[in-house]
Amino acid sequence: MSSSKIPHIKSVETRYLQERESLFRGLGSLDRRSFLKVSTGAAAAAVAAGVSYPFQSFLPINVAYAGEGGGTRPGFNFAYISDSHLYVKKTNERFVRQLLRAVDDVNSLDPQPDFVLYGGDLAQLGRREELDLGAQILKSLKAPVRMMAGEHDWFLDMGHRWNELFGPESYSFDHKGVHFVVLMSVHEKDFWTARNMTPAQRMHTVAGLDNAVQSAFEVGAPQREWLKKDLEKIPASTPLIVFSHSPLYKLYRPWNFWTDDAEEVQAVLKRFDHVTVLHGHTHQVLTNRIGNIQFHGMLSTAWPWPYAPQGLPALTVQMNRPNPFDANDGLGDGTVGVHPDGLVDKLYNLWNRNPLQVKASYLSTSGQQDTPTAPTLASY
Ligand SMILES: [Fe+2]
Ligand SMILES: [Fe+2]
Repeated sequence: MSSSKIPHIKSVETRYLQERESLFRGLGSLDRRSFLKVSTGAAAAAVAAGVSYPFQSFLPINVAYAGEGGGTRPGFNFAYISDSHLYVKKTNERFVRQLLRAVDDVNSLDPQPDFVLYGGDLAQLGRREELDLGAQILKSLKAPVRMMAGEHDWFLDMGHRWNELFGPESYSFDHKGVHFVVLMSVHEKDFWTARNMTPAQRMHTVAGLDNAVQSAFEVGAPQREWLKKDLEKIPASTPLIVFSHSPLYKLYRPWNFWTDDAEEVQAVLKRFDHVTVLHGHTHQVLTNRIGNIQFHGMLSTAWPWPYAPQGLPALTVQMNRPNPFDANDGLGDGTVGVHPDGLVDKLYNLWNRNPLQVKASYLSTSGQQDTPTAPTLASY
């Protein structure tokens, strides 16, 4: 065999670097066609670099619900992606790849969800470049996107760029008989003016979560008034689904897994027959019920938080401690099946484990029925 017939073999590192180059070239001028190219490249690059398991394809919604008894079938579905914490790409490209993976997951759902909720913390330090990069990637979703703000998006310029890109941070809409409300639950009382902080210092303080300097998150009085007004003409029998970045209850204050005026917001929601709250921020499988309100946390695409040492709701079936040596363990995205009464079945699409479904009936019966199957992987 002559040497000219020997195929040129690129090393893993060379292929990885070339694919990374093309990923970021594509991101610079992102349209749908180049996205498909670069996101496939991202998958290949991640596998080539040994940083990811081969992509587990997302369960089609119909398969996820097939064969499970108990109650009605969901009337419609929406998907969620949350807490991507994008840095500028030269600082951290792993989080970019992980958001692209979630976009691929959702785009491969069949049937497509009615919309995609983005759960907040798109950026890490609220920079224009981070938010713009995230907005560009999310444009590649086939289904319409509903945005929610997180504290990492907000405290550099107090939401200025976020509002320019995505519109108002609190809003409501109606969809197939359900009233949806999106809240900005991570406002803070001014801790920065008296301390003469720069915007960057303010942002870093909030991003630190467990420090004594910042205030607790809150929806705040003006927005609670707005919420009351928004709900005024809605009958109590109308299904209500609320999106908030922080959990709308008090879980663990030292980590700001907490909304300071949670009880006041719950009081506004109390007269409705069925209320579901979906939140980001906690980066883990998290389930709670308080009175008529069912709460579900969303997974992050960036990193999983450990469970709080105190205050974990009794109805939470834990996802186990993720493997610290596997950058994708404990991460994921998911879908939400909305029943005609507005209560939801929540599917956690964990990238490295079996999907975990938390059904409305599990919460309605206070854990007596349809207990979710806990992940079988060992805890680390
Ligand atoms: Fe987050
Ligand atoms: Fe957050």
